[in-house]
Amino acid sequence: MKIDDYNVNIFKKFNKDWALLTVGDKNKYNTMTISWGTLGTLWQKEVVTVFVRKSRYTHELLENNKYFTVSFYSDEYKKALGILGSVSGRDKDKVSLTKLTPKFLDNITTFKEAKETLVCKKLYSQDMDINSIPSDIKDKLYSDSDIHTIYIGEVVNILHD
Ligand SMILES: Cc1cc2nc3c(=O)[nH]c(=O)nc-3n(C[C@H](O)[C@H](O)[C@H](O)COP(=O)(O)O)c2cc1C
Repeated sequence: MKIDDYNVNIFKKFNKDWALLTVGDKNKYNTMTISWGTLGTLWQKEVVTVFVRKSRYTHELLENNKYFTVSFYSDEYKKALGILGSVSGRDKDKVSLTKLTPKFLDNITTFKEAKETLVCKKLYSQDMDINSIPSDIKDKLYSDSDIHTIYIGEVVNILHD
């Protein structure tokens, strides 16, 4: 699909529908559910930004891979996304707890059931500065100091079912 034809309600897309953030290839990959994310433009490129806490196994893989995917699903997979967002791939083959089927492409992974997959090339990453977060949000979301790393990826392809 051409990026110009990609037409979504960005305020609903991550927050309500959720997505899977997947990193790695057939030799080693992991996926996790995300509901925070942005789509937009930076440095004359179409980009997606995701926010991943340092404690996630996915974080470790993101540090060691150049590409990641962000994939979206219909409501029938909400339960699967719930599982992938509560179990860590560090402890378990969590994908086998769902009905999702991994789809391995060159150096990326997505799932057969995805409605669409944004293929992203890592452009930039930075840890959030805890001192720059408003205090009410800090108290609510960062009392354990498990901060998010911000990953900005260039959308290099959109795969559509
Ligand atoms: C609906 C939902 C949204 C989530 N969004 C995020 C997110 O945006 N960033 C994040 O770091 N964790 C998020 N999580 C938590 C991770 O998905 C969860 O900790 C997961 O088990 C991490 O897996 P991993 O250790 O295999 O990487 C979310 C969980 C759910 C259920």
